[in-house]
Amino acid sequence: MDWGMANRLSRIIQKNGHTLVMPVDHGYFQGPTRNLEEPRKTISPLLPYSDALFITRGVLRSCVDPDNAKPIILRVSGGSSMVGKDLANEGIITSMEEAIRLNVSAVGISIFVGTDYEKESLLNLAKLANEGERYGIPVMAVTAVGKELEKRDARYLALASRIAAELGARVVKTYWCENFEKVAGGCPVPVIMAGGPRVDTELEVFNFIYDGIQKGAIGVNLGRNIWQNAFPIAMIKAIRAIIHENATPNKAQEIYDHEKGK
Ligand code: 5RP
Repeated sequence: MDWGMANRLSRIIQKNGHTLVMPVDHGYFQGPTRNLEEPRKTISPLLPYSDALFITRGVLRSCVDPDNAKPIILRVSGGSSMVGKDLANEGIITSMEEAIRLNVSAVGISIFVGTDYEKESLLNLAKLANEGERYGIPVMAVTAVGKELEKRDARYLALASRIAAELGARVVKTYWCENFEKVAGGCPVPVIMAGGPRVDTELEVFNFIYDGIQKGAIGVNLGRNIWQNAFPIAMIKAIRAIIHENATPNKAQEIYDHEKGK
């Protein structure tokens, strides 16, 4: 791997091989998502506990100070919305030149395997990977499911993740699922887990993150289950412990309970 590519990846993936990426890109299709209405207020207190941010150029420029940032994964796909016809109908919204100008560590793009826009999204990934390889910028592919959350099973996610890697993604972001080892094991590049909509209890989140890490994920790219929690700092500290200190779900729960009482 070329020096620039390796250097950028090493900013995101820590020395222990793990990472906690904080996604705050949701507004690009959801508008002012709950608890992300004013991104700076959400991002600032979580920044010290995040290894990288997943963010669009608009929120990066307006809500993150350039002298106090973390490595940036720039979301570069978009063009559809929650109220539009089809969330899968995305294009590339930000150029590689702009990514370089913003000094990002990686770019991120969603792919929509199995939809009417499968081919466009996969060709967009391939084009982005070609440009990323030219400039030494890793591409993170997001195996998006749009509103079809029921698609999140091992068969589908393993298929989509493998295709993303085959087409040139240096990192794949996908969902946790039962039998996650089939997803991570079939994907020859590092796999990071997204969170999805908020689940009922903190322990559920700790359980799936712990399980995914044991089965080969290198970390998370998990937003709403942190910043929509009533105690986001407690939540991110507990999750960091699972990712970086191999804490069990029960230990993470202890950390959460202790931190939220502060
Ligand atoms: C939205 C995204 C998010 O980065 C991803 O879904 C992770 O966030 P969450 O944990 O809230 O699902 O790609 O398009």
